[in-house]
Amino acid sequence: MPGANISPNQGKLLNILARACSSKNILEIGTLVGYSTIWLARALPEGGKLITIEYEKINYEIALENIRKANLEETITILHGKALDILPEIEKTQADPFDFIFIDADKPSYVDYLKWAIKLSRKGSLIVLDNVIRNARILDENSSVPKVIGVQRLNDYLKECQEVDFTILQMVGEKEYDGMAIGIRK
Ligand SMILES: C[S@@+](CC[C@H](N)C(=O)[O-])C[C@H]1O[C@@H](n2cnc3c(N)ncnc32)[C@H](O)[C@@H]1O
Repeated sequence: MPGANISPNQGKLLNILARACSSKNILEIGTLVGYSTIWLARALPEGGKLITIEYEKINYEIALENIRKANLEETITILHGKALDILPEIEKTQADPFDFIFIDADKPSYVDYLKWAIKLSRKGSLIVLDNVIRNARILDENSSVPKVIGVQRLNDYLKECQEVDFTILQMVGEKEYDGMAIGIRK
């Protein structure tokens, strides 16, 4: 789904980062139809697990089918619903912290998602958030676009964030010039 999923080189980057921190448990917020999910799941060792959350029913159903075709049903659990409703349930049932968390859903909730990522991770976990440059539209202080305002709030939060050490990398993707925030949990 060009324009919505990450690009292949970004998928490989996530895969390398997840392997670099020896991920056994991965959390993703924003599955779409499972493209980034599959890149991440392929970074896991035998017995590793990935939980991904998707709000739109049609995306969820297509993702289930893609995951089945990729033979990853044993590794990936897709949860259907709003991430902010589902994350408290994950907190109750997940025994181990997540080693890698990829956030790529609705931008107005990015600060809330990051707070959840901090809660559900451990020292040394990696946290990655996508679409934090948006063709430099994030520089527009007068923007009224919710996606842009969500990322601006995130950037303000990152400046003060004591729990994660972040950098932002600018990238040329398939749709526009954009970037990812990449952080390590302290
Ligand atoms: C940019 S797409 C994800 C792309 C995917 N990570 C990839 O690269 O293949 C964002 C997804 O987040 C989902 N989404 C939006 N709001 C959400 C919410 N509140 N909870 C869970 N998913 C949400 C959208 O339906 C959409 O499928």
